[in-house]
Amino acid sequence: MSRLDARRILIGVTGGIAAYKSAELIRLLRKENAEVRVVMTPAASEFITPMTLQALSGNPVRQSLFDQAHEAAMGHIELARWADLILVAPGSADFMARIAHGLANDLLTTLCLAAEAPLVIAPAMNQAMWRNAATQANRQTLVERGILIWGPDEGSQACGETGLGRMLEPTELLDRTVDQLSGGRLSGVGVLLTAGPTREPIDPVRFIGNRSSGKMGFSLARAFAAAGARVVLVSGPVAQSTPVGVQRIDVETAAEMHVAVMDQVAACDIFVACAAVADYRPVEVHDQKIKKLEEQLDIRLERNPDILAGVAALQPPPFTVGFAAETHRPVEYAEQKRRNKRVDMIAANLVGAAEGGFERDENALTVLWDGGDLELPMSDKGVLAERLVTVIAEHYEQKYRTENT
Ligand code: CTP
Repeated sequence: MSRLDARRILIGVTGGIAAYKSAELIRLLRKENAEVRVVMTPAASEFITPMTLQALSGNPVRQSLFDQAHEAAMGHIELARWADLILVAPGSADFMARIAHGLANDLLTTLCLAAEAPLVIAPAMNQAMWRNAATQANRQTLVERGILIWGPDEGSQACGETGLGRMLEPTELLDRTVDQLSGGRLSGVGVLLTAGPTREPIDPVRFIGNRSSGKMGFSLARAFAAAGARVVLVSGPVAQSTPVGVQRIDVETAAEMHVAVMDQVAACDIFVACAAVADYRPVEVHDQKIKKLEEQLDIRLERNPDILAGVAALQPPPFTVGFAAETHRPVEYAEQKRRNKRVDMIAANLVGAAEGGFERDENALTVLWDGGDLELPMSDKGVLAERLVTVIAEHYEQKYRTENT
């Protein structure tokens, strides 16, 4: 049996030099017994001929919304209903912009708007176009609507520049398609995450907090959900929208976060502690606003429970992943934390005025596990989250396989 027996995949091809790679992608999908239909935008046919894609897919290639002969054979709405998955590869900056704004001004965008099947875009463009604020805002909109963005990859580009913008390789797109259509790589896996800051009250109007925005934790929750996991997200106070398909539990204090996590942990296979939990809380919480009567004010603090260490000490523990935000020597301190808290994996990053981390859209991480490490270079937190989820999934699967053999 092949991996995509009788699955119906609609490939959208937009204008970009990476269009030549969609020929190979279609060949690979057909080799796995998928049924493939191809829709090209007018610009795509400047880069590859419809004839090539017709020969490879075994079906006529559609290019126009107003082609009477094709519409009579299979109308565009039927075509949208026909697909189990729509994969637009390559997806240009223009295509992303049009989908983000709900335009239906050619056959491909009309189909995407009418379809209920999952929509995946594999972006391919010049690195500066990818980094452009407009493209990033469109990417964010698409991701928030549950559209899957696979890639882009980093490397040298046809235009001679180097950076993020290359389309993922056809073999990688094939593997992801197989995972997606079987419910995702982490289908059936329960993931529990903490995110954001905590607030430790001093009196009814004041609290001890920190600069965490929750962006990394929410990006991770989104990436886990996209990989097919059942995701529960325990979040401190943040201004982030809840990712599609994620169950969110809002808390304020570290103690509340601890209770929520312990309530949910039995049903999870992977626990990721991304929250910036306050290590201490005021011993006394005043029930009325403190007045400025004294020149100096002492607030006594007591330790909060360590949620990550508590989860890692459970018997049996889930696969546990921690974060270590450090202002200096991140890898050294993170490795100490990994050992002390007995977690499977820890992701270290530098925080502070110059380095970023908190309140930023980009981050870089060093991931450490027993006997290995991996650098994930500076990138948008959404892209970084996808990479981290892949690393976590690999190690989770390895541990699970070892325990079951
Ligand atoms: N963490 C937690 N509960 C706490 C404190 C931290 O679950 N009460 C988790 C964080 O979510 C993170 C990891 O532990 O995944 C590391 O947190 P960090 O604050 O950097 O480390 P600490 O152990 O608190 O050490 P220190 O503050 O001394 O650097």
